[in-house]
Amino acid sequence: PSVRCLGKERTLAMIKPDGVSGNYTEEIKRLIVEAGFDIVKERLTQLDKETASTFYDEHSSRSFFPHLVSYMTSGPVVVMVLEKGDAVSDWRGLIGPTDSQKAKISHPHSIRALCGKDSQRNCVHGSDSTSSAEREINFFFKDVVSDHVKQESREEFS
Ligand code: TYD
Ligand code: MG
Repeated sequence: PSVRCLGKERTLAMIKPDGVSGNYTEEIKRLIVEAGFDIVKERLTQLDKETASTFYDEHSSRSFFPHLVSYMTSGPVVVMVLEKGDAVSDWRGLIGPTDSQKAKISHPHSIRALCGKDSQRNCVHGSDSTSSAEREINFFFKDVVSDHVKQESREEFS
């Protein structure tokens, strides 16, 4: 499936473990909806080492990679497919820069300024291009089973 359809675009958003454990999920979802995105798919999941490593494969040679994988597997995450015109760049804009410390100064209203701690524990993820969005959406929502998982995940929230 394409990430573009009838002028709309889709991107992958993730609330990382510190966002979920810090109880930011509902506030982040409110900001998402206020910014005009539709949340078209959503699931709560616990990443294992292999899943986190594959998701962040482009960074596998970086010195921070082992820390990134242990952080990303430290608790449940919420993955979502967001839809609107220019979803990829608009979601990157809403989350702010990678380093939450810098975000607090340069983008004080961004989500990473709101709930991130530093350049590693930055609370949320967003696809960086339409091709990344396509890969990442398929990575987490590749088949109809995800709709079933989504229902189960919703119930876990209540
Ligand atoms: P990157 O793709 O550069 O940032 P973004 O999430 O904004 O697309 O990096 C992916 C993740 O790797 C980032 O969200 C947090 C982690 N990371 C570190 O832990 N240390 C670092 O120095 C960098 C650049 C990233
Ligand atoms: Mg990135």
